[in-house]
Amino acid sequence: MRVVVFISGRGSNLQALLEHQKNYTVCHVISNRARANGLSIAKSYAVPSTVIPWRDTAQAEAKALALLKVLNPDLIVLAGFMRVLSASFVANFPFKIINIHPSLLPLYPGLNTHQRALNDHQTKHGATVHYVDQHLDRGHSISQSHINITAQDTAETLAARLLSKEHTLLTTTVNKIACGEIYWQDNQLFYNNQLITQPIVW
Ligand code: GAR
Repeated sequence: MRVVVFISGRGSNLQALLEHQKNYTVCHVISNRARANGLSIAKSYAVPSTVIPWRDTAQAEAKALALLKVLNPDLIVLAGFMRVLSASFVANFPFKIINIHPSLLPLYPGLNTHQRALNDHQTKHGATVHYVDQHLDRGHSISQSHINITAQDTAETLAARLLSKEHTLLTTTVNKIACGEIYWQDNQLFYNNQLITQPIVW
């Protein structure tokens, strides 16, 4: 399976994807920021990359779409990509775009997820991999990882502790999609040929 990864910055999830390529190959990286650290990571793995500035969404999406038509990936992974894709763009790739989000969706779509979990005195936090649809962080959830929140936690400690869980969650999920263990059929999610009504927990 050929995977294109969209990034905006640090690229630690991209690095995890590159390190754990088993059933898939990262064939291209797209970044909306020329100075994204993830671009150096792609280069160190000899994976081609393209920078598409996202100042004008319609223009950026037209460029991305043209590139994706050539690359023809089986899956698009948003790994720390901090731009919202339009409904018309997403409609080109139904159930072919997934995103990793640092919260237990449907809780805390959008930004500042760690601080919002703390503000609400949550005892559990986590990350979600979900299909991308036209609604921000609202597409069908595939898998989740959980962590406990302690009294000492800050947004920074939560983010740091969650990040290594994110890496395992994302690489496991992509490998299982790539080998056909996870699939979407007849408007439903399947894992090992079983209908899944709750996110898979890793
Ligand atoms: C990750 O924590 C990812 O879950 C989050 O950005 C970070 C990117 O880190 N994504 C979002 O908030 C998307 N809404 P990385 O660049 O090191 O992978």
